Amino acid sequence: MEISKVLISQEEIENKVSELANEINSKYKGEELVVIGILKGAFIVVSDLAKQLDLDVTFDFMSIKSYYGSESTGQVKIVKDLEYDITDKNVLIVEDIYDTGLTLSNLKKLLESRNPKSIEVFSMFVKKEVAQDPIEINYSGFEIGPEFVVGYGLDYNGKYRELPYLAVLA
Ligand code: IMP
Ligand code: MG
Repeated sequence: MEISKVLISQEEIENKVSELANEINSKYKGEELVVIGILKGAFIVVSDLAKQLDLDVTFDFMSIKSYYGSESTGQVKIVKDLEYDITDKNVLIVEDIYDTGLTLSNLKKLLESRNPKSIEVFSMFVKKEVAQDPIEINYSGFEIGPEFVVGYGLDYNGKYRELPYLAVLA
């Protein structure tokens, strides 16, 4: 497998992150926000976003595994839980990519059960047509096709996360 083409450039990504950071800054102006990055893929977008947030913000991270088998659909296993209590907090979940949607929909349900004040979802890339359990993405960077992509946090067997652009592997 090799990189066959750049799908979204570094510049396009940087511009989009600024645009979304502005939206988040206006939405939560004067309020506290807990940003929850989903490891590992979201580490790049969380750090780029973080530098542009002008809010009373705290960062936390979670690592989860989703199961897609017919018997276990709808399950998320927590590999690493949050450090902070999110009860009565404004929560923003930040994910790298929304593919089938199962990870985010299950995670959102799980975090809602902890009674946050509000909960919103950010996904840098969205594969719209493949969603099986659609949830509202409040902040979405780019809609892409169903192809497998790497870079900007996304990996293939642990590789390519460091690329500053989004690329297709072939
Ligand atoms: P979902 O539950 O199907 O929405 O899965 C989302 C997760 O699958 C993401 O957090 C990624 O880790 C992974 N994923 C989905 N599509 C891609 C891709 O094109 N490249 C790399 N990872 C992907
Ligand atoms: Mg992931």
